[in-house]
Amino acid sequence: MVDKISLDVPMLRIPHPGPKTMAHLERVRRAEGQSGLTFALSPETLVMERAQGWAVEDIDGNVFLDFVAGFGSLNAGHCHPRVVKAIRDQAVKLHQAMSVAAEARTQLLEKILSLVPGPSEKKVHFATSGSEAAEIAIKLARRATGRHEIIAFGGGFHGRTMGALSLMGRKNQREGLPVLVPGAHHIPYPYPYRSPFGREAETCIEGTIRYMEELLGNPASGWGEVAAVILEPVQGNGGMIPAPLGFLRALRELCDRHGLLLILDEVMSGFCRTGEVFAFEHEQGVEPDLLVLGKSLSGGIPLAACVAKRKIADAAAPGTESGTYSGNVIACAAGLASIAVYEDEGLKERANEMGSYFLERLNGLAGEYEMIGEVRGRGLMLGVELVADRTTREPLPVAKMACETALKKGLLLYPGGHYGNVIAFLPPLIVGKEQIDRATAILEEVLLEVEKNPN
Ligand SMILES: Cc1ncc(COP(=O)(O)O)c(C=O)c1O
Repeated sequence: MVDKISLDVPMLRIPHPGPKTMAHLERVRRAEGQSGLTFALSPETLVMERAQGWAVEDIDGNVFLDFVAGFGSLNAGHCHPRVVKAIRDQAVKLHQAMSVAAEARTQLLEKILSLVPGPSEKKVHFATSGSEAAEIAIKLARRATGRHEIIAFGGGFHGRTMGALSLMGRKNQREGLPVLVPGAHHIPYPYPYRSPFGREAETCIEGTIRYMEELLGNPASGWGEVAAVILEPVQGNGGMIPAPLGFLRALRELCDRHGLLLILDEVMSGFCRTGEVFAFEHEQGVEPDLLVLGKSLSGGIPLAACVAKRKIADAAAPGTESGTYSGNVIACAAGLASIAVYEDEGLKERANEMGSYFLERLNGLAGEYEMIGEVRGRGLMLGVELVADRTTREPLPVAKMACETALKKGLLLYPGGHYGNVIAFLPPLIVGKEQIDRATAILEEVLLEVEKNPN
């Protein structure tokens, strides 16, 4: 799986960004809308040429160590040979089946159902992106309950389409769009480091649930026809924040008491990323009513899914949640091959093992650098939260700058956090100690530079 470009990574032949990169970005700048590129066309971005495993080579021949992995869509790494073969084999046989049944598609439906634990019978709707799958979940929840309000959590990320965006609190994403889909209520995520309800897991869980209980039970609260609660079991874009263990079970019980549906968004945390196939499996006895999946479901080929309990799934009339590319057969073939790789290469176990090792290394840095307020995460979904002051926990919003500095040193990282102060780590689950050690060493150089020049 690891060819020669993966062996000595990172390897910068010339300072990044090189001349070909600069010239290419000029072309992109002229042709592409600035909102279409994740790293917003900053001169520090890269132009990818090819990739393998954890290594990405740019058009100047610089090779980067990838700890972003397609924002978590490449849990088996770039261009895994089994995934590539499955894509090739499917492409020459049948590459577009619309939303009509075909073998790879049906096999993946069955495989997804076999992976999702819980006693209830379930069904799957395919979608093309995580945003679209979140839309399907919201629509099914509304149709199944006849109610329309949705409770979402600050810092949550469910996508950029209008419905999914309505559930996101993030100012920069909502700017210029004062009217979104009505009916969303935002409450604080169980984020013990910053929760207004308590800084210990237990008080944070208890306070958050009590707050919800009050708003649901009080006829004057402003909450009315609530259909569902949606959340990520580990907030990704929000800063790699795992909900404290015990929260999902308490939330499940609250949903049952009030007749609300529980929607879990595992677009980023799913498929072994956190050391379980799905992050909600870290707690016993939690079965979501709807589960939103994407990214590593199909190893980097656009595909997403919404799994719902049977009655909820059937609340929509035939064809109403279909689409030209829903469950595209190439994506399904890639999905089947990717899941086989996760299973055959023991990537769930590896995420646990390497996650513990990486967490230890990051905690080592926290012992030396005051600006690290917290190191956290589950499996290989990790984050480092930067603060100006450890006592007050005042955020230090330099994650973007830190990630740009890391890129110049050959390491791909991704900035996140409610305050733009979290450096996020989402390496492919195939990384070993050697790659983690390289990443930690580069991160230390980055922290030293940020410490010298925090503005
Ligand atoms: C938790 C979560 N939900 C939904 C989405 C949206 O997925 P997509 O970008 O495929 O639309 C993302 C994307 O990062 C995500 O992290």
